Amino acid sequence: MRRLARLQLLPLQLALLLAVGSPEAPVSAPRSLAWGPGLQAAVVLPVRYFYLQAVNSEGQNLTCSPPGETLFKVVVKSLSPKELVRIHVPKPLDRNDGTFLVRYRMYETVNEGLKIEILYGNEHVAQSPYILKGPVYHEYCECPEQDPQAWQRTLSCPTKEPQIEEDFASFPNINLLQMLNEVPKRFGDERGAVVHYTILNNHIYRRSLGKYTDFKMFSDEILLSLARKVLLPDLEFYVNLGDWPLEHRKASDIPGPIPIISWCGSLDSRDVILPTYDVTHSTLEAMRGVTNDLLSIQGNTGPSWINKTEKAFFRGRDSREERLQLVQLSKENPQLLDAGITGYFFFQEKEKELGKAKLMGFFDFFKYKYQVNVDGTVAAYRYPYLMLGDSLVLKQDSPYYEHFYVALRPWKHYVPIKRNLSDLLEKIKWAKENDEEAKKIAKEGQLTARDLLQPHRLYCYYYRVLQKYAERQSSKPEIRDGMEHVPQPDDNTSICRCHRKRSSREEL
Ligand SMILES: *[C@@H]1O[C@H](CO)[C@@H](O)[C@H](O)[C@H]1NC(C)=O
Ligand SMILES: *[C@@H]1O[C@H](CO)[C@@H](O)[C@H](O)[C@H]1NC(C)=O
Ligand SMILES: *[C@@H]1O[C@H](CO)[C@@H](O)[C@H](O)[C@H]1NC(C)=O
Ligand SMILES: *[C@@H]1O[C@H](CO)[C@@H](O)[C@H](O)[C@H]1NC(C)=O
Repeated sequence: MRRLARLQLLPLQLALLLAVGSPEAPVSAPRSLAWGPGLQAAVVLPVRYFYLQAVNSEGQNLTCSPPGETLFKVVVKSLSPKELVRIHVPKPLDRNDGTFLVRYRMYETVNEGLKIEILYGNEHVAQSPYILKGPVYHEYCECPEQDPQAWQRTLSCPTKEPQIEEDFASFPNINLLQMLNEVPKRFGDERGAVVHYTILNNHIYRRSLGKYTDFKMFSDEILLSLARKVLLPDLEFYVNLGDWPLEHRKASDIPGPIPIISWCGSLDSRDVILPTYDVTHSTLEAMRGVTNDLLSIQGNTGPSWINKTEKAFFRGRDSREERLQLVQLSKENPQLLDAGITGYFFFQEKEKELGKAKLMGFFDFFKYKYQVNVDGTVAAYRYPYLMLGDSLVLKQDSPYYEHFYVALRPWKHYVPIKRNLSDLLEKIKWAKENDEEAKKIAKEGQLTARDLLQPHRLYCYYYRVLQKYAERQSSKPEIRDGMEHVPQPDDNTSICRCHRKRSSREEL
């Protein structure tokens, strides 16, 4: 009965959708909107980006893609014909809701400035052309803003980051000598994955305290990237590159907890968390070798809601027992759930019984209306990507969290499921029977994730953690025995003239 009732609604919904983008009220180039950090010269990011909202001639926002091929076109070029620069500008990403995401990556600095033309058909959109007065620096240019406050204002960094406040609440004072004494002993054994960093005068030094520190390439790359953009405080800290958070002492314990910095947090540990290496690397290397990044995913969210397969979906490795249960549930309830394990490592004996599913491109996940998020070893690092799609996320209850979870609420941004999955089928049925509500939660989750996971917000977050940490240090950071300097790239990708200081390159 319910099914029938919903089907009868469909033509009406379709008619409504079509009416918004109807030929009678076509997209108006001048009334359409353009905004975002990529329209400001001073916001230096690996990939610059801004947004477009299609608006019709009556001034109404379109809420789905204009019919036919995307007519938005963006041209980014140097203001001065004398300055030749390479800029990669892929086609605007259609986010399927009347908005578009425009990205561009600069490979050189332009001193005079940039001209950004945004066209719909042959007409200029909003205030196009946008003139970004130079210098406009590229990612590898070392030219830190000397005033961190000014830099944060330029990026419109949020004034509050509740997760950071909470993480530092246990650490009013950071005793660097105590940490120097304790960290190598407690966490620096053979199996250790901790890297000890010192930042002095915006230079980065480090030593590894353990064998499993290859992931320092990720912490190095973001610290170097930050140091190219803004003057960092002097700091001495420890980054845990392993999966699990490390500090399990309670605030009341003696000796008390120490602020180890980790990618993932948990309810029973006190680590200070940063955005995961996955989110970080995907932001830094977007459009340069990383295929699924937090921006590209936004233009690849599959069919519209009404055309998605009405099942919950999961593909992933066997890193947690509940994932195997998920496959079992899927076998018993194929009409509700399509779950498969794509690689066995932890539970190899189960492969015969449960079978191995073919690998599937991430963008194809969004052919399904509901996405199941079950922890891996710790938090599942696919969660940010799932939240950016326009499917409803069914999230397993978990003691693990990443830096942005604190802003997300059950039933508002996602649907919670019990840790043992005992209510999963019930929740999928609920979603099928309450399609409007499910769609609303999916949309709300997507909008919030789009906001929280913007690349410039990632930089804000990192900076804020370093700043909070620096404020609490009770002695001066030092370059310790065994540390080595981590240099900025000095090949020809980094060539630029920095107006804030003479670059070392030019002094040569
Ligand atoms: C139209 O879209 C813009 C950008 O997405 C938004 O800020 C604005 O509030 C929308 N206007 C209406 C009337 O919904
Ligand atoms: C749904 O799919 C049908 C068939 O491919 C297509 O004609 C229709 O435009 C789609 N609807 C939406 C809203 O995308
Ligand atoms: C699943 O966990 C809930 C608590 O969240 C518990 O009440 C229930 O008995 C568990 N179910 C199974 C099958 O273990
Ligand atoms: C940078 O160096 C590489 C090889 O060393 C060369 O192929 C490339 O053309 C150079 N680029 C510039 C802008 O000089």
